[in-house]
Amino acid sequence: MSSDFLLPRIGTKENPVRLAVFISGGGSGLQSLIQYQKIPRVHITSLVISENNNAGGLKIAEENEILALHVPLPQIKNKSEIRLEHEKKIQQILERENSELIVLSGYMRIISPWLISKWKGRIVNIHPSLLPNFPGAHAHRDVLAAGSNFSGCTVHLVDEGVDTGPILGQSRVIVRANDTIKSLQDRVKIEEHKLYPRILDNLCSGSISL
Ligand code: GRF
Repeated sequence: MSSDFLLPRIGTKENPVRLAVFISGGGSGLQSLIQYQKIPRVHITSLVISENNNAGGLKIAEENEILALHVPLPQIKNKSEIRLEHEKKIQQILERENSELIVLSGYMRIISPWLISKWKGRIVNIHPSLLPNFPGAHAHRDVLAAGSNFSGCTVHLVDEGVDTGPILGQSRVIVRANDTIKSLQDRVKIEEHKLYPRILDNLCSGSISL
């Protein structure tokens, strides 16, 4: 495996790895992670960032006294400049807050090669399908359209591709004949909420090697 992935340091309950969780929406994954961290773990959520001021997860973070920041997209015309300027701002915040691991939890923006180069091995994502099958933004729709009998979720390290980095763990879910996108999503999320904290435990305790 490529050695350009630099994994996070090994955390302890006394000195947990500081997570920056990126969200765009409701934040049910964030909520379950915060709940999991109510007792001391080898990781702790110390920062939540969203490009969406209405993201429910920002409120969840505030209620739990976690620094929650809306980082809006800059109002400039050039699309690649928007991404770069936005990520520069985020990078400043991550440095200021001594973040150690970026956890994408329903973050709907693609991370640029620039930010990945700074964090490679220390950005994880959860995707609602069994990768490498059904990457992209419409996994449940695509699973149902393909008539698959099962689906699931995947936690992986983020590389320069879309949903392509090294897989750290997966959970499997049965697809039912009468499933809708919503019913499948709900059932997969139950597994996501168990899988993500467990993989973060592994990653932040040194039990994952590439
Ligand atoms: C999750 O299904 C995650 O896999 C996907 O986006 C969803 C986020 O849900 N990337 P929530 O905001 O945590 O409720």
